[in-house]
Amino acid sequence: MKKIVFATNNKNKLCEAREILAPLDIEIISQHEAGAECEPEENGSTFAENAIIKVKAVYDIVKCPVIADDSGLCVDALDGRPGVYSARYAQKGQECRKLLNEMKDVPENKRSAYFECVIAYIDDNGVKTVSGRCNGKIGYEERGINGFGYDPIFIYGDRSLAEMTAEEKNNISHRSLALKSMAEILRKEDII
Ligand code: IMP
Repeated sequence: MKKIVFATNNKNKLCEAREILAPLDIEIISQHEAGAECEPEENGSTFAENAIIKVKAVYDIVKCPVIADDSGLCVDALDGRPGVYSARYAQKGQECRKLLNEMKDVPENKRSAYFECVIAYIDDNGVKTVSGRCNGKIGYEERGINGFGYDPIFIYGDRSLAEMTAEEKNNISHRSLALKSMAEILRKEDII
């Protein structure tokens, strides 16, 4: 089974990636387990730039295949915000409340939003990136207790992502689409 280090200190992302890639014969080692205790500054202006910053920082330490995820929520009525700043938009645990407040006067037909995820992969031959998107809309209140981040206010169909099981979210999520696309590329190139 191919071992790949995941450059993240986010336990939720790690857990989702392990569940998504488990059937594909890829074992995900956390950055911590690989002994790479770093948190590079994410100063890129796109998800792809930030994913590449993270993957290179960990690769420089571990010198074996690494993937990284950079992701966020883009809200159309807010011109794509919080976007790459999703992790820094509000104090941890306050992001949903702050966004609901910003959206309080936005009518139903203007509440569209999407999650975007870019996965970067690096090995001795260089870096590859792929992206995945999950389209939905911003709700009016926090719903559900599963997931993390903006999941309680992101409505997909008639439920929030936080009302879905991990398996249901992993069937439709931006992270799952991007990870599966990357796995497909790695398989075609005989890397896994
Ligand atoms: P970063 O990729 O480490 O910059 O952080 C991305 C941020 O976007 C997270 O801290 C969350 O706030 C948000 N985010 C990314 N993916 C998800 C998701 O699947 N559900 C909810 N929030 C997410």
